[in-house]
Amino acid sequence: TTEKSAVFIIFGGSGDLAHRKLYPAMYNLYKSGVLKDHFAVIGTARRPWSDDYYRSTVVDSLEDVDDDEKAMTEFSKHFFYQSHDVTDSDHYIALKNLAAKLDDQFDTGHNRIYYMAIAPRFFGTVAEHINSEGLKTDGYNRLVIEKPFGRSFDSACDLNSSLTKTFSESEIYRMDHYLGKFMVQQLTDIRMKNKTFEKALDHKYVSNMQITLSESLGVEDRGGYYETAGVLRDMIQNHIMQIIGAVAMDEPAKLDSDSIHEVKRAVFANLKDLTPEEVDQNFVRGQYGEDATGKLKAYREEDNVDANSNIETFVAGKVTMSNERWDGVPFYVRSGKRMPAKSSRIDVVFNDKVEELGIKPNTTVTFLIEPENGSSILVNGIDYQSANQDFIKFPEDSHYFDNEREAYESLMIDILDGDQIHFTLWDELQNTWKYVDVIRQQWDNETPDFPNYMSKTIGPDAASELLEKDGNTWVWDA
Ligand code: BG6
Repeated sequence: TTEKSAVFIIFGGSGDLAHRKLYPAMYNLYKSGVLKDHFAVIGTARRPWSDDYYRSTVVDSLEDVDDDEKAMTEFSKHFFYQSHDVTDSDHYIALKNLAAKLDDQFDTGHNRIYYMAIAPRFFGTVAEHINSEGLKTDGYNRLVIEKPFGRSFDSACDLNSSLTKTFSESEIYRMDHYLGKFMVQQLTDIRMKNKTFEKALDHKYVSNMQITLSESLGVEDRGGYYETAGVLRDMIQNHIMQIIGAVAMDEPAKLDSDSIHEVKRAVFANLKDLTPEEVDQNFVRGQYGEDATGKLKAYREEDNVDANSNIETFVAGKVTMSNERWDGVPFYVRSGKRMPAKSSRIDVVFNDKVEELGIKPNTTVTFLIEPENGSSILVNGIDYQSANQDFIKFPEDSHYFDNEREAYESLMIDILDGDQIHFTLWDELQNTWKYVDVIRQQWDNETPDFPNYMSKTIGPDAASELLEKDGNTWVWDA
């Protein structure tokens, strides 16, 4: 491990995301030596906090990560707090001076990572001030931006143009934490190492693809945000689309960022645009009601949610592509809150012609991205190593999937390395927004009959009917 040097400026340093994800990820990097002596973190937010108080919140955020008090305290000494109003130019000057001072103190090579962990409406303002107050240095300057990246194609364009006044595309790291998940990252490698499987990923042999991101929790305390999003914007436009990119892309020339983005770009460019009629036929929306016992609240009863809200908490749909490889193959996608279990998975359902390649007819290969017991690959529901089918061997070591890095940790390493391989590029994003906008607009024209599924159930019946119409069924039905 080589140690990395940078000053991190975390906008939203007192917030939930920073404490839940960023500090634990950084701490793990600290423990493994990626961050060591030459890094400092400036947390900013409006409230007036002292460095000491801020450090104590950082240590508190590590409660579930470690109990090594000494290491946690040492780690927290790299953290500094700056009270900050995002619209006040003077505050950026103060930030710039503090960063310069920490640069000297920790010898961080003038490198800056600006991390936007604040409300999305401030992304543009902060980026513009970084420019106007001259915060950029002669080291590297990387902007990390959390989702949502806009809420439509147009708003994403506006946001992007305000960011690109300050940062070039190669300096912008758009987070999609699903791209940091181990199985999603391994997928490319698995495909490249199993030539028969890779060959079978084609319309000749694939009956259908299924991508499910189900959650058992409801909106919890995020009702305010969720009311502006819904699953379509929260999960489909980003995580589901990026997973489609990873399974549907052609083999990249090399395993580097440029080659991977080249083949991914093609996937998003090949998404077959929907007509409004196709939205009605191919997409289903739902919103959760109470559970059977009446203990769990309906979505419309949640905090900060409109009592007549028409926001969807469930989406199922059929995505198709216009290139030859995937000609006629449905990519069924599904995501929802308050489903029976948390499951993030890709099911590849082969047809009977796959026998030509020596694979048993109608085999299903499942990539479990994020179940509780860790990721793995199943062949017809059985662990691939016990399934006794040699078209998928990866790798020989049965403990391979045991030591996964957490998504944020892995993405943080990429940012420190200057590697955009697992981040969303602007051209990809434009196409996914255009695709999703058509669905949104069609739905906004009609009042749905909500709620239409009970909490802790698999979703509205229409989601099963969607596949039945094509003679298919969902592999995962909880
Ligand atoms: C986030 C969404 O991007 O992903 C949340 O905003 C969702 O609504 C979460 O709960 C799911 O991520 P994970 O890693 O828990 O599957």
